[in-house]
Amino acid sequence: MIRCEHLTHIYGRGTPLQTQALTDVSLTIAAGEFVGIIGATGSGKSTLVQHFNALLRPTAGHVYLDGGDLHARGVDRRRVRREVGLLFQYPEQQLFEETVSADVAFGPRNLGLDEDEVQMRVRRALTLVGLDPDRFGPRSPFELSGGEMRRAALAGVLSMEPRMLILDEPTAGLDPTGRREILGHVGRLHRERGLAIVLITHSMDAVARLAGRVLVLDRGRLVAEGGPREIFADPARLQALGLGVPQMTLLGQRLRERGLPVRPDILTVAEARTAVLEALRVRGRSHGAL
Ligand SMILES: Nc1ncnc2c1ncn2[C@@H]1O[C@H](COP(=O)(O)OP(=O)(O)OP(=O)(O)O)[C@@H](O)[C@H]1O
Ligand SMILES: [Mg+2]
Repeated sequence: MIRCEHLTHIYGRGTPLQTQALTDVSLTIAAGEFVGIIGATGSGKSTLVQHFNALLRPTAGHVYLDGGDLHARGVDRRRVRREVGLLFQYPEQQLFEETVSADVAFGPRNLGLDEDEVQMRVRRALTLVGLDPDRFGPRSPFELSGGEMRRAALAGVLSMEPRMLILDEPTAGLDPTGRREILGHVGRLHRERGLAIVLITHSMDAVARLAGRVLVLDRGRLVAEGGPREIFADPARLQALGLGVPQMTLLGQRLRERGLPVRPDILTVAEARTAVLEALRVRGRSHGAL
């Protein structure tokens, strides 16, 4: 669905503040995929994804949507932004209407859809993020909890009915319940609606649990890509990039250091449980116990 070829982005070219944010990045993201993007602060994650819906123009290289160059002459970039929805970091700062419904309706109304269709999309989008339209629709966005505001902002993007949803640190600043809820909805949108998801996050646990593929950025370069098991199998490398590993991968590493032979590629709590039980059983047998 998305393809970048030799994408380079330089901010403020020719000024004293010139910054090369991306260097020669080539990648593809298929329709319906769930891709996690990780990398230290300033590695270029936000810059990269803003190319996927043509908010930024490459300094060099090309970005294609379904094979078409986003910056070719005559491309309808408003259509591109409908198909590739982007939820910015701290999106609740962009809520501004008097009611949640009006806020979610803003995008579809701008498309010139008739009012019945707009209302239908508002109800559908609020329901998708777990906000009852009758209860939350009439309320002021500013009376909601942090997690509810974030979900209202997500509903605003979903009301455009995109095929790909890009989320730039959607859990930043939320409490554990808010984090769990928003990621739960994102996971469901992927599984049940087939939306392609691009998730930028500092949570290695979220990536391990949700992503089918992980892209690792370092100082503007794509330095690794692969399944989460493959990416997290080398904790030393990630640490060198200023990144951690999922908590359960770390637990497995510590247990191995203490002599319990668990698998090295554990990602989740369920996998850790199975691996520890299996390792204990093996050890029990070799000690003649059990
Ligand atoms: N609008 C801008 N003007 C100038 N430089 C920018 C701009 N936005 C980002 N940069 C610079 O480009 C580089 C990449 O920034 P970017 O925001 O893409 O990184 P990031 O991986 O999203 O970081 P974070 O994890 O902190 O959000 C950084 O050096 C940053 O300072
Ligand atoms: Mg960023």
